[in-house]
Amino acid sequence: MSDFLSMYSVQHWLESCPQGYLVGTEFGHPPGESESELIVSDPLLREQAIGTTVQLVVGERCALAASSGLINSAPDEASKRFLATQTLDEARHVEIFTQRLFDLGLKKSELESAIEQYANPNLMKFAEVLLEKVDRKDFVAGVVGQNVVLEGMAFSVFEMMYAGSQTLNPKFAHTLSGTIADERRHVGFGENRIGSLIQEHPEKKPAIERMQKEMSYYMLATFADSFRNNPAREEFKKLRMSTSGAPKAEWHGADLNALEPEEMESLLADTVLKEFKVRLGRIGIEYQTPIRP
Ligand SMILES: [Fe+2]
Ligand SMILES: [Fe+2]
Repeated sequence: MSDFLSMYSVQHWLESCPQGYLVGTEFGHPPGESESELIVSDPLLREQAIGTTVQLVVGERCALAASSGLINSAPDEASKRFLATQTLDEARHVEIFTQRLFDLGLKKSELESAIEQYANPNLMKFAEVLLEKVDRKDFVAGVVGQNVVLEGMAFSVFEMMYAGSQTLNPKFAHTLSGTIADERRHVGFGENRIGSLIQEHPEKKPAIERMQKEMSYYMLATFADSFRNNPAREEFKKLRMSTSGAPKAEWHGADLNALEPEEMESLLADTVLKEFKVRLGRIGIEYQTPIRP
């Protein structure tokens, strides 16, 4: 437990995060950086960026509700303190992605209506499944749903977006890099804390496995909605072609600039599901293959 105490303490969080990789940043990126002109000046690409960023805000609002909601059902003090640090991380993620919406030209008065308009219904269902466990004070299921499933998904989505934004949109890539570092810490907590709790409560396994299968389905359906029938796909192609002299956007052995949207979708889905399998295996949960939308 002593390693656990120091790895997930408020002190460690202060030193590594606010006093570490976030020093000197403003909404997650170096001050003065702005969104790529290519995106802001093209109506289709701008709308696409707003739509994508809304999904990030929806996911992070769910993580904020879940991490704060789990504090009072945590069985030990160290977990409560870690979840308090995570709550602040998630609030920051909500804030920086909301700020990106404003940077893309959304008016503050338009925020909630834009979120309502663009929020993916499958992502909302994904969040509902998790928040239902949190509301019932089911700590073990809540942590698996949040720190393994939701954050496993977020981690890979952010990494993929980071690889795709590095040359096209360094400001957004920088915003993502601090978020990725935070998510890595959150996913680590899920694995380290929950394994022993599942051993103590084997009767919880079937419900947790059902939850994972259900959340995974809604995740895949969200990916399908985002990559298939995308009205901006031709625009994206042009944008990617325009960067052909630039370094490759490498992610998991593929060059994202050379992939069709369907290929990106299956690369992302396969990467996340593979990680679920490994991470769930480590905490003693048997991965359930979701239905493919
Ligand atoms: Fe987050
Ligand atoms: Fe997180």
